Amino acid sequence: MYSAKTMDHFSNPRNVGIMEDPTVLVKVGDPDCGDALLLFLKIEEDRVRDIKYKIFGCGAAIATSSIASELAMGKTLEEVLQITEQDIANALDGLPAEKMHCSNLAAGAFRAAINEYRKVRAS
Ligand code: FES
Repeated sequence: MYSAKTMDHFSNPRNVGIMEDPTVLVKVGDPDCGDALLLFLKIEEDRVRDIKYKIFGCGAAIATSSIASELAMGKTLEEVLQITEQDIANALDGLPAEKMHCSNLAAGAFRAAINEYRKVRAS
């Protein structure tokens, strides 16, 4: 039911870990299933230079966080904001319908982190 790519990212998640000196750190959760994602971003010159995360969730949440970190790495903040849940699922060659919501975690975390970064900079 999972694609080979999803299984690969689940078994060997990319960029997982913690960052000592992130520019921004957010935690987002899915209230329905209780899964959560802690996301660390290093931002320089309006670009995502490094990404680390800790995921407390299902296999699809692990795989979507991993592929989302690859999609966002090196991109401008505007480009990262354009990454949708569907883009994340497509990059994994699709997700089972009942697991589509798991891709919300990573997409939502990137949006929350960039919004937080901009809020702090504006204040
Ligand atoms: Fe919670 Fe997948 S079931 S993120």
